[in-house]
Amino acid sequence: MRFTGKSIIVTGAGSGIGRATSRLFAAEGGRVIVADKTDGADETAELIAKDGGVAHAIRMDAGSEDEVVRTVALACEKFGGLDVIYANAGISGGIPGLFDCTVEMWQDILRVNLIGPFLAIKHAAPKIIERGKGAIVCTASVAGLRSGAGGPPYSASKAGVINLVQTAAQQLSGSNVRVNAICPGLIETGMTKRAYDYAREHGKEDKIGRLNPLRRGGEPEEIGQVALFLASDDASYVNGQAIVVDGGLSSSHPVTRQEFGKTAA
Ligand SMILES: NC(=O)c1ccc[n+]([C@@H]2O[C@H](COP(=O)([O-])OP(=O)(O)OC[C@H]3O[C@@H](n4cnc5c(N)ncnc54)[C@H](O)[C@@H]3O)[C@@H](O)[C@H]2O)c1
Repeated sequence: MRFTGKSIIVTGAGSGIGRATSRLFAAEGGRVIVADKTDGADETAELIAKDGGVAHAIRMDAGSEDEVVRTVALACEKFGGLDVIYANAGISGGIPGLFDCTVEMWQDILRVNLIGPFLAIKHAAPKIIERGKGAIVCTASVAGLRSGAGGPPYSASKAGVINLVQTAAQQLSGSNVRVNAICPGLIETGMTKRAYDYAREHGKEDKIGRLNPLRRGGEPEEIGQVALFLASDDASYVNGQAIVVDGGLSSSHPVTRQEFGKTAA
Protein backbone atom coordinates (compact mmCIF):
# COMPACT_ATOMS: atom_id res chain seq x y z
CA MET A 1 0.00 0.00 0.00
CA ARG A 2 2.65 2.49 -1.12
CA PHE A 3 0.14 5.14 -2.22
CA THR A 4 -2.33 5.27 0.66
CA GLY A 5 -3.94 8.73 0.66
CA LYS A 6 -1.88 9.94 -2.33
CA SER A 7 -3.48 12.01 -5.06
CA ILE A 8 -2.49 10.73 -8.50
CA ILE A 9 -3.27 11.72 -12.09
CA VAL A 10 -2.89 9.22 -14.93
CA THR A 11 -3.40 10.43 -18.51
CA GLY A 12 -4.32 8.01 -21.26
CA ALA A 13 -6.06 6.08 -18.48
CA GLY A 14 -8.93 4.86 -20.65
CA SER A 15 -7.03 1.92 -22.14
CA GLY A 16 -3.89 -0.19 -22.15
CA ILE A 17 -0.98 0.88 -19.98
CA GLY A 18 -2.83 3.85 -18.45
CA ARG A 19 -5.80 1.74 -17.37
CA ALA A 20 -3.63 -1.04 -15.93
CA THR A 21 -1.46 1.46 -14.05
CA SER A 22 -4.45 3.37 -12.69
CA ARG A 23 -5.82 0.13 -11.29
CA LEU A 24 -2.47 -0.76 -9.72
CA PHE A 25 -2.18 2.70 -8.11
CA ALA A 26 -5.70 2.38 -6.72
CA ALA A 27 -5.02 -1.15 -5.44
CA GLU A 28 -2.16 0.33 -3.40
CA GLY A 29 -4.38 2.97 -1.83
CA GLY A 30 -3.93 5.80 -4.34
CA ARG A 31 -6.81 8.12 -5.21
CA VAL A 32 -6.68 8.39 -8.97
CA ILE A 33 -7.85 10.97 -11.51
CA VAL A 34 -8.25 8.81 -14.60
CA ALA A 35 -7.90 11.18 -17.54
CA ASP A 36 -8.52 10.31 -21.16
CA LYS A 37 -9.95 11.82 -24.31
CA THR A 38 -12.42 8.93 -24.58
CA ASP A 39 -15.11 7.53 -22.31
CA GLY A 40 -12.67 4.72 -21.56
CA ALA A 41 -11.84 6.95 -18.58
CA ASP A 42 -15.31 6.30 -17.12
CA GLU A 43 -14.89 2.55 -17.63
CA THR A 44 -11.54 2.61 -15.82
CA ALA A 45 -13.04 4.57 -12.92
CA GLU A 46 -15.87 2.01 -12.74
CA LEU A 47 -13.40 -0.89 -12.68
CA ILE A 48 -11.48 0.77 -9.85
CA ALA A 49 -14.68 1.45 -7.89
CA LYS A 50 -15.72 -2.19 -8.38
CA ASP A 51 -12.38 -3.26 -6.89
CA GLY A 52 -13.07 -0.99 -3.88
CA GLY A 53 -10.68 1.78 -4.93
CA VAL A 54 -11.09 5.54 -5.31
CA ALA A 55 -11.07 7.13 -8.76
CA HIS A 56 -12.57 10.05 -10.59
CA ALA A 57 -12.81 10.16 -14.38
CA ILE A 58 -12.24 13.20 -16.56
CA ARG A 59 -12.54 13.54 -20.33
CA MET A 60 -9.66 15.73 -21.43
CA ASP A 61 -7.09 16.31 -24.14
CA ALA A 62 -3.56 15.79 -22.77
CA GLY A 63 -2.14 18.07 -25.48
CA SER A 64 -4.30 21.07 -24.53
CA GLU A 65 -2.91 23.41 -21.90
CA ASP A 66 -6.35 24.50 -20.63
CA GLU A 67 -7.40 20.88 -20.19
CA VAL A 68 -4.25 19.87 -18.37
CA VAL A 69 -4.77 22.84 -16.04
CA ARG A 70 -8.39 21.70 -15.53
CA THR A 71 -7.24 18.15 -14.75
CA VAL A 72 -4.66 19.26 -12.17
CA ALA A 73 -7.30 21.54 -10.59
CA LEU A 74 -9.70 18.58 -10.38
CA ALA A 75 -7.13 16.48 -8.50
CA CYS A 76 -6.62 19.33 -6.03
CA GLU A 77 -10.37 19.82 -5.62
CA LYS A 78 -11.25 16.13 -5.22
CA PHE A 79 -8.21 14.92 -3.30
CA GLY A 80 -6.84 18.08 -1.64
CA GLY A 81 -3.60 18.34 -3.65
CA LEU A 82 -1.37 16.34 -5.98
CA ASP A 83 1.45 13.87 -5.28
CA VAL A 84 2.03 12.06 -8.58
CA ILE A 85 1.30 12.52 -12.27
CA TYR A 86 1.81 9.79 -14.84
CA ALA A 87 1.88 11.51 -18.25
CA ASN A 88 1.13 8.46 -20.33
CA ALA A 89 -1.32 9.51 -23.08
CA GLY A 90 0.07 8.89 -26.54
CA ILE A 91 -0.81 8.21 -30.15
CA SER A 92 1.23 6.25 -32.71
CA GLY A 93 0.11 7.79 -36.00
CA GLY A 94 0.86 4.55 -37.82
CA ILE A 95 4.21 3.85 -39.46
CA PRO A 96 4.46 6.22 -42.43
CA GLY A 97 7.76 6.54 -44.28
CA LEU A 98 9.66 9.75 -43.58
CA PHE A 99 8.95 11.05 -47.07
CA ASP A 100 5.23 10.28 -46.79
CA CYS A 101 4.86 12.33 -43.61
CA THR A 102 3.13 15.69 -43.65
CA VAL A 103 3.76 18.61 -41.32
CA GLU A 104 0.26 18.05 -39.92
CA MET A 105 1.13 14.45 -38.97
CA TRP A 106 4.21 15.65 -37.11
CA GLN A 107 2.26 18.40 -35.36
CA ASP A 108 -0.53 16.03 -34.26
CA ILE A 109 1.87 13.49 -32.81
CA LEU A 110 4.24 15.96 -31.17
CA ARG A 111 1.29 17.82 -29.63
CA VAL A 112 0.02 14.76 -27.75
CA ASN A 113 3.21 12.77 -27.18
CA LEU A 114 5.71 15.53 -26.34
CA ILE A 115 3.84 18.75 -25.61
CA GLY A 116 1.44 16.66 -23.47
CA PRO A 117 4.17 15.52 -21.03
CA PHE A 118 5.62 19.05 -21.05
CA LEU A 119 2.24 20.47 -19.99
CA ALA A 120 1.83 17.76 -17.36
CA ILE A 121 5.19 18.65 -15.84
CA LYS A 122 4.61 22.39 -16.14
CA HIS A 123 1.27 22.38 -14.36
CA ALA A 124 1.59 19.42 -12.01
CA ALA A 125 5.04 20.16 -10.58
CA PRO A 126 4.06 23.35 -8.69
CA LYS A 127 1.21 21.47 -6.99
CA ILE A 128 3.42 18.48 -6.15
CA ILE A 129 6.04 20.85 -4.69
CA GLU A 130 3.36 22.17 -2.31
CA ARG A 131 3.21 18.64 -0.81
CA GLY A 132 6.94 18.69 -0.04
CA LYS A 133 7.81 15.77 -2.33
CA GLY A 134 6.44 13.65 -5.15
CA ALA A 135 7.08 12.17 -8.54
CA ILE A 136 6.38 12.62 -12.21
CA VAL A 137 6.54 9.68 -14.61
CA CYS A 138 6.21 9.93 -18.39
CA THR A 139 5.76 7.19 -20.96
CA ALA A 140 8.44 7.37 -23.64
CA SER A 141 9.26 4.27 -25.74
CA VAL A 142 12.08 2.16 -27.09
CA ALA A 143 11.17 4.02 -30.28
CA GLY A 144 12.76 7.08 -28.67
CA LEU A 145 16.11 5.31 -28.21
CA ARG A 146 16.80 4.52 -31.86
CA SER A 147 15.03 4.07 -35.17
CA GLY A 148 12.86 1.10 -36.09
CA ALA A 149 10.10 0.85 -33.50
CA GLY A 150 7.62 3.42 -34.80
CA GLY A 151 6.96 6.08 -37.42
CA PRO A 152 9.38 9.03 -37.70
CA PRO A 153 7.27 11.58 -35.78
CA TYR A 154 6.41 9.00 -33.10
CA SER A 155 10.06 8.06 -32.57
CA ALA A 156 11.15 11.70 -32.46
CA SER A 157 8.37 12.54 -30.00
CA LYS A 158 9.50 9.76 -27.66
CA ALA A 159 13.17 10.77 -27.96
CA GLY A 160 11.94 14.20 -26.93
CA VAL A 161 10.25 12.75 -23.83
CA ILE A 162 13.52 11.11 -22.74
CA ASN A 163 15.30 14.45 -22.97
CA LEU A 164 12.37 16.27 -21.36
CA VAL A 165 12.56 14.20 -18.17
CA GLN A 166 16.31 14.83 -17.94
CA THR A 167 15.80 18.59 -18.29
CA ALA A 168 12.79 18.65 -15.96
CA ALA A 169 14.67 16.71 -13.27
CA GLN A 170 17.44 19.30 -13.46
CA GLN A 171 15.08 22.26 -13.43
CA LEU A 172 13.26 20.85 -10.40
CA SER A 173 16.56 20.68 -8.55
CA GLY A 174 16.05 21.14 -4.81
CA SER A 175 12.28 20.64 -5.05
CA ASN A 176 12.18 16.97 -3.95
CA VAL A 177 10.16 16.17 -7.07
CA ARG A 178 11.65 13.38 -9.19
CA VAL A 179 10.98 13.05 -12.92
CA ASN A 180 11.56 9.82 -14.84
CA ALA A 181 10.42 8.11 -18.02
CA ILE A 182 9.63 4.53 -18.95
CA CYS A 183 10.56 3.17 -22.38
CA PRO A 184 8.24 0.25 -23.05
CA GLY A 185 8.93 -2.26 -25.78
CA LEU A 186 6.05 -4.12 -27.44
CA ILE A 187 3.03 -4.21 -25.13
CA GLU A 188 -0.44 -5.57 -25.93
CA THR A 189 -2.75 -2.54 -25.76
CA GLY A 190 -5.16 -0.59 -27.92
CA MET A 191 -2.17 0.89 -29.74
CA THR A 192 -0.83 -2.50 -30.86
CA LYS A 193 -4.20 -4.27 -31.22
CA ARG A 194 -4.07 -4.34 -35.02
CA ALA A 195 -0.65 -6.01 -35.05
CA TYR A 196 -1.70 -8.58 -32.43
CA ASP A 197 -5.00 -9.26 -34.22
CA TYR A 198 -3.20 -9.66 -37.54
CA ALA A 199 -0.67 -12.08 -36.07
CA ARG A 200 -3.39 -14.15 -34.40
CA GLU A 201 -5.60 -14.21 -37.51
CA HIS A 202 -2.65 -15.47 -39.57
CA GLY A 203 -1.48 -18.07 -37.06
CA LYS A 204 1.67 -16.07 -36.34
CA GLU A 205 1.10 -15.37 -32.67
CA ASP A 206 4.39 -17.07 -31.82
CA LYS A 207 6.21 -14.38 -33.82
CA ILE A 208 5.03 -11.63 -31.46
CA GLY A 209 7.96 -10.31 -29.44
CA ARG A 210 10.36 -12.90 -30.90
CA LEU A 211 13.06 -10.27 -31.32
CA ASN A 212 13.60 -9.93 -27.57
CA PRO A 213 15.29 -12.63 -25.46
CA LEU A 214 12.12 -13.21 -23.40
CA ARG A 215 10.46 -14.02 -26.74
CA ARG A 216 7.09 -12.51 -25.96
CA GLY A 217 5.26 -9.23 -25.93
CA GLY A 218 4.70 -7.46 -22.63
CA GLU A 219 1.53 -6.96 -20.60
CA PRO A 220 0.35 -3.46 -19.61
CA GLU A 221 0.74 -4.38 -15.93
CA GLU A 222 4.46 -5.01 -16.50
CA ILE A 223 4.82 -1.33 -17.41
CA GLY A 224 2.43 -0.33 -14.63
CA GLN A 225 4.58 -2.00 -11.99
CA VAL A 226 7.58 0.03 -13.12
CA ALA A 227 5.50 3.21 -13.13
CA LEU A 228 4.47 2.47 -9.52
CA PHE A 229 8.10 1.85 -8.55
CA LEU A 230 9.21 5.16 -10.10
CA ALA A 231 6.31 7.04 -8.50
CA SER A 232 6.97 5.54 -5.06
CA ASP A 233 9.54 6.12 -2.34
CA ASP A 234 11.14 2.82 -3.42
CA ALA A 235 12.69 4.90 -6.22
CA SER A 236 13.68 7.76 -3.90
CA TYR A 237 17.13 8.13 -5.53
CA VAL A 238 16.07 7.55 -9.15
CA ASN A 239 15.78 10.83 -11.01
CA GLY A 240 16.06 12.06 -14.60
CA GLN A 241 16.23 8.52 -16.00
CA ALA A 242 14.58 6.65 -18.83
CA ILE A 243 14.01 3.07 -17.67
CA VAL A 244 13.72 0.56 -20.50
CA VAL A 245 11.13 -2.20 -20.04
CA ASP A 246 11.32 -4.23 -23.23
CA GLY A 247 12.17 -7.85 -22.40
CA GLY A 248 15.78 -7.12 -23.38
CA LEU A 249 15.00 -5.97 -26.95
CA SER A 250 17.31 -2.95 -26.83
CA SER A 251 20.19 -4.77 -25.13
CA SER A 252 21.77 -5.93 -28.39
CA HIS A 253 22.55 -4.85 -31.90
CA PRO A 254 20.74 -7.05 -34.42
CA VAL A 255 22.97 -10.14 -34.52
CA THR A 256 22.23 -13.81 -35.05
CA ARG A 257 21.55 -15.06 -31.57
CA GLN A 258 23.05 -18.14 -30.05
CA GLU A 259 20.33 -20.46 -28.74
CA PHE A 260 20.36 -21.10 -25.01
CA GLY A 261 21.88 -24.51 -24.35
CA LYS A 262 23.43 -24.82 -27.83
CA THR A 263 27.12 -24.35 -28.53
CA ALA A 264 28.09 -21.69 -31.06
CA ALA A 265 29.17 -23.15 -34.41
N1 LIG B 1 1.78 -0.51 -26.60
C1 LIG B 1 3.07 -0.42 -26.85
O1 LIG B 1 3.68 -1.35 -27.42
C2 LIG B 1 3.82 0.81 -26.44
C3 LIG B 1 5.21 0.79 -26.57
C4 LIG B 1 5.94 1.92 -26.19
C5 LIG B 1 5.27 3.03 -25.71
N2 LIG B 1 3.93 3.03 -25.61
C6 LIG B 1 3.28 4.25 -25.10
O2 LIG B 1 2.46 3.90 -24.02
C7 LIG B 1 1.49 4.93 -23.83
C8 LIG B 1 0.13 4.30 -23.61
O3 LIG B 1 -0.28 3.70 -24.82
P1 LIG B 1 -0.96 2.26 -24.88
O4 LIG B 1 0.01 1.35 -25.51
O5 LIG B 1 -1.54 1.92 -23.56
O6 LIG B 1 -2.09 2.51 -25.98
P2 LIG B 1 -3.67 2.66 -25.86
O7 LIG B 1 -4.09 3.16 -27.20
O8 LIG B 1 -4.26 1.41 -25.36
O9 LIG B 1 -3.87 3.79 -24.77
C9 LIG B 1 -3.60 5.14 -25.03
C10 LIG B 1 -4.69 5.97 -24.38
O10 LIG B 1 -4.35 7.36 -24.54
C11 LIG B 1 -5.53 8.06 -24.87
N3 LIG B 1 -5.20 9.30 -25.56
C12 LIG B 1 -4.70 9.44 -26.81
N4 LIG B 1 -4.58 10.74 -27.10
C13 LIG B 1 -5.00 11.43 -26.01
C14 LIG B 1 -5.12 12.80 -25.70
N5 LIG B 1 -4.79 13.75 -26.59
N6 LIG B 1 -5.59 13.17 -24.49
C15 LIG B 1 -5.96 12.21 -23.59
N7 LIG B 1 -5.88 10.91 -23.83
C16 LIG B 1 -5.40 10.52 -25.03
C17 LIG B 1 -6.31 7.09 -25.73
O11 LIG B 1 -7.70 7.45 -25.80
C18 LIG B 1 -6.06 5.77 -25.04
O12 LIG B 1 -7.04 5.52 -24.04
C19 LIG B 1 1.59 5.82 -25.05
O13 LIG B 1 2.32 6.99 -24.72
C20 LIG B 1 2.37 4.99 -26.03
O14 LIG B 1 3.07 5.78 -26.96
C21 LIG B 1 3.19 1.95 -25.97
